[in-house]
Amino acid sequence: MKKIITGGTVITAADQYKADLLIEDGKITEIGQGIRAEGAEIINATGKYIFPGGIDPHTHLDMPFNNTVTDDDWESGTIAAAFGGTTTILDFCLTTGEDRLLDAVDKWHEKAKDKAVIDYGFHLMIADLTEETLAQLPEALEVAGINSVKVFLAYAKEFQASDRTLFQAFKVGKEKDAIVMVHCENGSVIDELVEEAKKSGHTEPIYHALTRPPQLEGEATKRAIELANLAGAKLYVVHVTCKEAVDEIIRAREKGYQVYGETCPPYLVLDQTYLEKPNFEGAKYVWSPPLRPKEHQEVLWNALKAKQLQTIGSDQCSFSFNGKKQLGREDFSKIPNGGPFIEDRFSVLYSEGVAKGRISLNEFVDMISTSAAKTFGLFPQKGTIAIGSDADLVLFDPNVERVISAESHHMNVDYNAFEGLAVKGEPVSVLIRGEYVIRDKEFVGKLGSGKYIRREVKKEEKPVTHKSFTTK
Ligand code: URP
Ligand code: ZN
Ligand code: ZN
Repeated sequence: MKKIITGGTVITAADQYKADLLIEDGKITEIGQGIRAEGAEIINATGKYIFPGGIDPHTHLDMPFNNTVTDDDWESGTIAAAFGGTTTILDFCLTTGEDRLLDAVDKWHEKAKDKAVIDYGFHLMIADLTEETLAQLPEALEVAGINSVKVFLAYAKEFQASDRTLFQAFKVGKEKDAIVMVHCENGSVIDELVEEAKKSGHTEPIYHALTRPPQLEGEATKRAIELANLAGAKLYVVHVTCKEAVDEIIRAREKGYQVYGETCPPYLVLDQTYLEKPNFEGAKYVWSPPLRPKEHQEVLWNALKAKQLQTIGSDQCSFSFNGKKQLGREDFSKIPNGGPFIEDRFSVLYSEGVAKGRISLNEFVDMISTSAAKTFGLFPQKGTIAIGSDADLVLFDPNVERVISAESHHMNVDYNAFEGLAVKGEPVSVLIRGEYVIRDKEFVGKLGSGKYIRREVKKEEKPVTHKSFTTK
């Protein structure tokens, strides 16, 4: 059905103007003044901003991790994302122990298929970066329609790649023009510090942060940068938290290296003292890299503003406090790493960024949507408001004031890391490919309506076979 959105202010990464939008067959087909179309539903957006749907490039839904599984699956996770103004996610498809990388992709499609209410793509997240998996990688990316791979320099016992295999992954990235995402912390040294802390009898959540100092993020970031550059690959540093890592990224970008960086809302708003909360409450704030002392927040805001960091991922990886977080009650190193952020990514960035005058409306759109679309090959189908783009739209009321709380959130966890944070602004209605998924703050979407979005890599060049001349 046709729709006309009228009276709102359209905001893209470049522009701000009042206009009507015509939506037909899921696409934006006209932008202008006084648009008319027979039989169209009229949506009054007076007083609202119309943003392109948020694109969250970093989620972990229904993912086995740290001896358990994340609490939000593709139903609760994507519904919460939609309430929060996110219309596309790129989720990490964890490949570990399968004979074929493509088996992991099939498994991820099964998880999402009848549940996702928003559009989605996958990154391949390779836990066991062996010669065999590396050999399969080029074809797997091509067949699966995936142009991004995550590897780890952290989690020594579970996921950590050696420098050699990391370098090999960068070579595949270069060959396929795929972006290699790296979790930059020095896992081996972290393990040593964890053992030291435990030997000294420390069990509390704050030791999670104290055993993963910023120097180890900076060191791993520099190593990944140099190895990616040597291989000629594009590097995307996930969840950047601190000055040490930002400085390395800036230095590399100034030299012309192809390095991109992402940070996440908790690092902009919360700090290391949250892990000191009594009665094990600090466990609610255990994720990796950890929260940092407050002075790092300004460094991150400045890097975003200067476009040295380009994207905001949620790093949604939720574990309930009274449930799975208790696995680490006696030992901080057993607390499942991760937090619930998919729902509040958009509003926290708007409120702390735009409403507090740190970033402009256009910069907000770039960080929350457009940059991720461009980095991961979704643009201009997604990430903007333009003729021919998918009608993924957020009607946002900038004047609402509310307080974030687990009481009112839609994630499947018993706490909210931003509990009590007063925010300005709220997504009121959210459309995906022209269909309402949230209408006047009510969920009206359909389970399974989310579409898998393929992102292409360089195709393998098949050798040209010539008929050979035969002589009689
Ligand atoms: O603690 C975190 N960040 N959990 C999710 C896995 C990862 O490293 O991104
Ligand atoms: Zn990570
Ligand atoms: Zn993550």
